[in-house]
Amino acid sequence: MNIFFGEDASAQLLMLTNNYDKFFVLTDENIYKLYSSLIASLVPEKEVVKIVIPAGEDSKNIENVMLIWTKLLESKAGRDSLLINLGGGTISDIGGFAASTYKRGIDFINVPTTLLAMIDAAIGGKNGINFNNYKNQIGLFSEPKCVIINKHFLKTLNERDVKSGLAEMMKYAFIADASFLDLDSDNYLDFIEKAATIKEDVVSLDMNESGLRKMLNFGHTVGHALESYYLDKENYLTHGEAVALGIYSALYLSVKYCGLDEKWLFFYEMWFKGNLNVLNLNDFDVDSIYEYISHDKKNKGGKPQFVLISAPEKPQIDIEVCIEDIKESISILLNKFSE
Ligand SMILES: NC(=O)c1ccc[n+]([C@@H]2O[C@H](COP(=O)([O-])OP(=O)(O)OC[C@H]3O[C@@H](n4cnc5c(N)ncnc54)[C@H](O)[C@@H]3O)[C@@H](O)[C@H]2O)c1
Repeated sequence: MNIFFGEDASAQLLMLTNNYDKFFVLTDENIYKLYSSLIASLVPEKEVVKIVIPAGEDSKNIENVMLIWTKLLESKAGRDSLLINLGGGTISDIGGFAASTYKRGIDFINVPTTLLAMIDAAIGGKNGINFNNYKNQIGLFSEPKCVIINKHFLKTLNERDVKSGLAEMMKYAFIADASFLDLDSDNYLDFIEKAATIKEDVVSLDMNESGLRKMLNFGHTVGHALESYYLDKENYLTHGEAVALGIYSALYLSVKYCGLDEKWLFFYEMWFKGNLNVLNLNDFDVDSIYEYISHDKKNKGGKPQFVLISAPEKPQIDIEVCIEDIKESISILLNKFSE
């Protein structure tokens, strides 16, 4: 799969028009408001069918998948059709899933509009939706034809969503490339190409996550549990915020289980406080949060498996961690990072 940046991105989109007869654009209401004229002219001289769903994590559900399938069916979409997922990770996750399951799969491409989607979610072909309040429970692996990254979209992204992407980007510092330790809220634009390339390189070596790709889940075991726990609460967490907290837990456990130097835990705490927002994590219940971990897709024999590190760039996969230690790490981080 190819990733195209900047000027190459527009050229690539033009070239694609020759391969298909029908074009569909899936986006959310916020993006549609901001970019309706761009959407109308996205594919020159071709009609584009718009599919617009409400914004946010709540939209990653089966009702919206049915809405997308219905629109595709009504417009007689077939193998000559291309679905363009224009949006953040919510749109690429649900759009990739809907396209890959409709008539056993039609082609789709991702045009990410958030930082988090540019450096992670839009790349790698993990598609899916939430189910019964659990994250990403229904889904499949299926790669987009390409990913087209245009940083101009970030000009309209709000601060909370920029910081959400920043946290997800920081994970690369620990698992793959220590130069990301210099990442901050002023210089993040310079790291986008590098981050997207790391993700694509890892995926290309292990598409179905049987080994190497697991390292990308660093921070996600506790992160997903926190995201699910706060999902329907007023003080909900964005995906990146939840992962940012999960990274703290993973580093805490890495000190205990993999001999990671404790200085990295302090480094990360300072980085988090200096670059990310203070969060409202009141009313937490560690046992209920742990309950979500017990449903994690990556558990083996019912036991949680963590990605930890022994040093930056030295990920260790499939580390079994005892329940008490997981709960301890959650209590500590919730107290540490709440306002
Ligand atoms: N499949 C994967 O490999 C993978 C990896 C990481 C995350 N994810 C998923 O990605 C999702 C989170 O993605 P996200 O953080 O991009 O959230 P998102 O797609 O929900 O977007 C966040 C908000 O930003 C708005 N927005 C998007 N682009 C904008 C722009 N250019 N200008 C102004 N507003 C804009 C959206 O309308 C939304 O309100 C989660 O569901 C997560 O599970 C998937």
